[in-house]
Amino acid sequence: MPHDVGAVRDIYAHHVLHGTGTFELAPPDEPEMAARIEAVTTAGLPFLVATDGVGVLGFAYAGPYRPRPAYRFTVEDSVYVHPEATSSGLGRRLLQEVLHRCEGQGVRQVIAVIGDSANVASVRTHEKCGFTHVGTLRAVGWKFERWLDTVLMQRELGPP
Ligand SMILES: CC(C)(COP(=O)(O)OP(=O)(O)OC[C@H]1O[C@@H](n2cnc3c(N)ncnc32)[C@H](O)[C@@H]1OP(=O)(O)O)[C@@H](O)C(=O)NCCC(=O)NCCS
Repeated sequence: MPHDVGAVRDIYAHHVLHGTGTFELAPPDEPEMAARIEAVTTAGLPFLVATDGVGVLGFAYAGPYRPRPAYRFTVEDSVYVHPEATSSGLGRRLLQEVLHRCEGQGVRQVIAVIGDSANVASVRTHEKCGFTHVGTLRAVGWKFERWLDTVLMQRELGPP
């Protein structure tokens, strides 16, 4: 993983600078990305990187949803695919594997906080992985000189 940090950071930086899937405005640098990965893995949660043997094509992970301890069985997922590798099934495969690993860790609920309402690729990817729409927060973000919604989706894991 450590040798992939730069490539993971570059994919994320592209989506920060050109997309609304994340509400960050300035890309994190490599040490900050390394610290985020470390925080996820130290919490016992999955941070997955997909490669084709030559370069990194995408990544996905689950982090704690909120810090208060009663939320400890709930996580929030994130998935980002290299701009030249989208729409080839990778996002869906990454997310499915994150869900599988989370289930193995005893996670019960996975929340997707999707920016923004027009992010059909992310909404469809989550739907295909069994998430259902649970709400929309209207105009909570301001990026690229416009207001953005977040779409909340949820997937239950484990026995009902
Ligand atoms: C969202 C993202 C991770 C999806 O990954 P992907 O590899 O492009 O998606 P997949 O090829 O796995 O597609 C999964 C499903 O979504 C659908 N889909 C993907 N892109 C789509 C698009 N632009 N419009 C409509 N449907 C789309 C696919 O048809 C597929 O459904 P299917 O299995 O019925 O064919 C990727 O597009 C991405 O990195 N987007 C920018 C960053 C982002 O928004 N990340 C999510 C943050 S919440």
